[in-house]
Amino acid sequence: MLKMTFVEPGGILHEVEVDDGSTVLEVARRHGFDLEGACEGCMACSTCHVIVDDNWFKKLDHASEEEEDILDLAFDVRPTSRLGCQISLSPALNGLVVALPSQHFNVMGG
Ligand code: FES
Repeated sequence: MLKMTFVEPGGILHEVEVDDGSTVLEVARRHGFDLEGACEGCMACSTCHVIVDDNWFKKLDHASEEEEDILDLAFDVRPTSRLGCQISLSPALNGLVVALPSQHFNVMGG
């Protein structure tokens, strides 16, 4: 079992256990965090936007052009922003830390 930590907008940390291969979006939903994922991982909504901890950001595969385009539409985008549906947990990412943005802007209108 792997672990990762979510940082809520108020700064509260939550460490949770995660299965190898789960996406950050799936983990957030399973634990009741406010990450909508309106398009179910199709890279069409940006409501799964998370801000990755600086040190962990370097360990992630680079975002695809498609992901970058969707991120441009997200609210509160930072240099280490990523789509939670595109980050799959693996032993290399055991201990991953991501922050939840303060608001979402849903380009799908929902
Ligand atoms: S769930 Fe829609 S872009 Fe990730």
